[in-house]
Amino acid sequence: MEIVPISREHYTRMAELHCRGYTDDFLPNFGPKFLIALYEGMFASNLAFGYVGLIGDELVGFCIFTPDTSRLFRSTLKRKFFKLGWYAGLGVLRRPSLFLRTLETFLYESRTELEDVKAEILPWVVDPKYRRKGLGTQIWDACEQAMKRMGIKEYKLVPAFEKEASHNFFIKRGYELKGEFTFYGKKWHLFLAKLKDD
Ligand SMILES: CC(C)(COP(=O)(O)OP(=O)(O)OC[C@H]1O[C@@H](n2cnc3c(N)ncnc32)[C@H](O)[C@@H]1OP(=O)(O)O)[C@@H](O)C(=O)NCCC(=O)NCCS
Repeated sequence: MEIVPISREHYTRMAELHCRGYTDDFLPNFGPKFLIALYEGMFASNLAFGYVGLIGDELVGFCIFTPDTSRLFRSTLKRKFFKLGWYAGLGVLRRPSLFLRTLETFLYESRTELEDVKAEILPWVVDPKYRRKGLGTQIWDACEQAMKRMGIKEYKLVPAFEKEASHNFFIKRGYELKGEFTFYGKKWHLFLAKLKDD
């Protein structure tokens, strides 16, 4: 697998994998076009970075991180307010129950506040066909290496895995469980990862 930085031509396939990989999550409810607008806003802000894994021409997975979630959130919203609002509005019209969840999104930052830790790993997805072969770990490691080069010493993450057993991946890597909270009607866990010098 070749690992390359995310660029615009990857967004469509990323959105498809994101919707398939995060079936219980909230944002994919708004569909791939919403996610593409979200990536456009995020990457235009210069506060989002990440890598995709390619096997031949096929994009098999990706991972996104930010050095500062709060700034990324505000900057993305500012850049893409109308486009994101449009797709979110259509989603709410289709499913009015999404309205309160949409408002709840604005509380994400307060739920994941962790001392001075600003960096965060955001979506991390591998095509179901290619899972459990170590590809996800390789893409994750590429993000960690990039964070180190940017001088980031620690970051947070909120795994979307529902089953606690799957948190073993993070625990095995020495990440510390810092808390749990309820969000979008589900229980989530907040981990802190410290990056060691090579
Ligand atoms: C999480 C994900 C990206 C891992 O991709 P992958 O290519 O299978 O990753 P790897 O083969 O490198 O395995 C990484 C670790 O993930 C954990 N893991 C992945 N899927 C798991 C599952 N269904 N149940 C339990 N553990 C799981 C394992 O600990 C595994 O390490 P191990 O095999 O050494 O125990 C992939 O399962 C996925 O896309 N899931 C859906 C989206 C998601 O939940 N993303 C994670 C948000 S934090």
